Amino acid sequence: MPLLSVRNLDVCYGVISALQEVSLEINRGEIVTLIGSNGAGKTTLLRTISALVRPRRGAIFFNDVEITRLAPHEIVRRGVCHVPEGRQIFANLTVHENLLLGGYQERDANRIRASLDRCFSLFPVLAERREQRAGTLSGGEQQMLAIGRALMSKPQLLLLDEPSLGLAPLIVRKIFQIIREINAEGTTVFLVEQNAHMALTVAHRAYVLQTGRVIKSDVASNLLQDPEVKKAYLGG
Ligand SMILES: Nc1ncnc2c1ncn2[C@@H]1O[C@H](COP(=O)(O)OP(=O)(O)OP(=O)(O)O)[C@@H](O)[C@H]1O
Ligand SMILES: [Mg+2]
Repeated sequence: MPLLSVRNLDVCYGVISALQEVSLEINRGEIVTLIGSNGAGKTTLLRTISALVRPRRGAIFFNDVEITRLAPHEIVRRGVCHVPEGRQIFANLTVHENLLLGGYQERDANRIRASLDRCFSLFPVLAERREQRAGTLSGGEQQMLAIGRALMSKPQLLLLDEPSLGLAPLIVRKIFQIIREINAEGTTVFLVEQNAHMALTVAHRAYVLQTGRVIKSDVASNLLQDPEVKKAYLGG
């Protein structure tokens, strides 16, 4: 049984079709990546899984239960957490306050403390800067904060929308290394990326989205060698 199953999803914005008959599966323990160019529909797919956009057709199952028509907070409560494109941290709140907001569904102070400790051990820089306002962090630190905030709700499935966007190569490598660690500790990851090379290097399996359709899916290492993928997404 897959952890997440997306079946024949059609999504439109008014008359514009953004996704057509998109189907994919994510198994427990995997890192699955979705690669695709600007405007392919990657963000739309993540927003549909999180119920921020409603599909015209199709269904989404999590742990074999249909979640297509649930409210966004219900989806978080079931264990799906979304790190949005552009991070969307609260710039005027401190690092610590941003993290606490990520754990808002947890009432038990000890468990909140344990989640904070886990975040700070994954991202020591956030511990050093815990009383600093989030808006003053560097881009890489803000991405770490956005991921840390998502982890505060202890998701089974972490949705990451272009975590490497706009970051220097060294920081990108660091972020991908942390994604591996998070996965090694048991969190399933669905990673949306334009940085196809890094994404295919870190992922187990991958899907290629082109103008709203899945045109390929395979083990990530096969796609790294695929001539069409190389030409279109890996710079030749
Ligand atoms: N709120 C919206 N209203 C109308 N059209 C939208 C909206 N959001 C996205 N679109 C359109 O839907 C298509 C898919 O956009 P989406 O943002 O999902 O792509 P993406 O693959 O995430 O692109 P990028 O790599 O630039 O982030 C695009 O043609 C986009 O213009
Ligand atoms: Mg996007």
